Amino acid sequence: MDTATAPAPPVTAALSAQTLYRFFRAGDEETFALQGVSMEVQRGEIVAVTGPSGSGKTTLLNCLAGLDEPDGGAVRIAGERLSHRAERERGMVRARHIGVLFQSGNLLEHLTVRDNIALVQRLARQTATSPPEELLERVGIAGRAGALPRQLSGGEAARAGLAVALANAPEVLLADEPTGEVDRETERRLLVLLRERADDGTAIVVVTHSRAVAAAADRVLRLRDGRWV
Ligand SMILES: Nc1ncnc2c1ncn2[C@@H]1O[C@H](COP(=O)(O)OP(=O)(O)O)[C@@H](O)[C@H]1O
Ligand SMILES: [Mg+2]
Repeated sequence: MDTATAPAPPVTAALSAQTLYRFFRAGDEETFALQGVSMEVQRGEIVAVTGPSGSGKTTLLNCLAGLDEPDGGAVRIAGERLSHRAERERGMVRARHIGVLFQSGNLLEHLTVRDNIALVQRLARQTATSPPEELLERVGIAGRAGALPRQLSGGEAARAGLAVALANAPEVLLADEPTGEVDRETERRLLVLLRERADDGTAIVVVTHSRAVAAAADRVLRLRDGRWV
């Protein structure tokens, strides 16, 4: 076949969100948390999302992760629809394709770091995953596999959380203030790790207030009152 004249294959974004709407009602109060938010993130790209408190950042990330359902619009992961599907199916798409890292941590307190990783790998029911030790080596805490979360320093906990988020080699990594509670040196190291993951093809969305994180991103998007500024 003459490859010189073959049309380029269409590029499917790793993550795409189309006109997401989300509102909350509490009594007479209505909050329009997302008002038509669209975005696309390509493989290998790091996108930072900033904005004042209450602007909709966490709501957006929850919708992108399939942890919350938008009231309107759709989320696709590598072309596969995530939103408006049965909870169970959403959970499976998330387990296989999305790594989630929240500021409050994604480690279960009663499990060792190793078992935290093993658990999310079992939930995804994928066979070709890296052993926990290898993931921990990659984030620089190979020696802490047997530790419980409360035995970790802040920096170690942040790395362990990242190892859990990466446990199933996700196409998409979503992080809400991942460096919010760590010192600057730890933040710098986490940014190096995120860039390494991006260079391996992961699409990354990071909600952040940190200038260093925003500066390290390929693009910075700003939310205000549920809309891009
Ligand atoms: N579960 C909820 N119930 C009611 N209101 C909510 C809920 N989640 C978020 N909100 C409201 O939606 C808006 C956006 O919140 P959030 O996404 O947490 O913003 P951010 O992460 O940017 O601080 C806020 O006004 C918040 O009070
Ligand atoms: Mg938030």
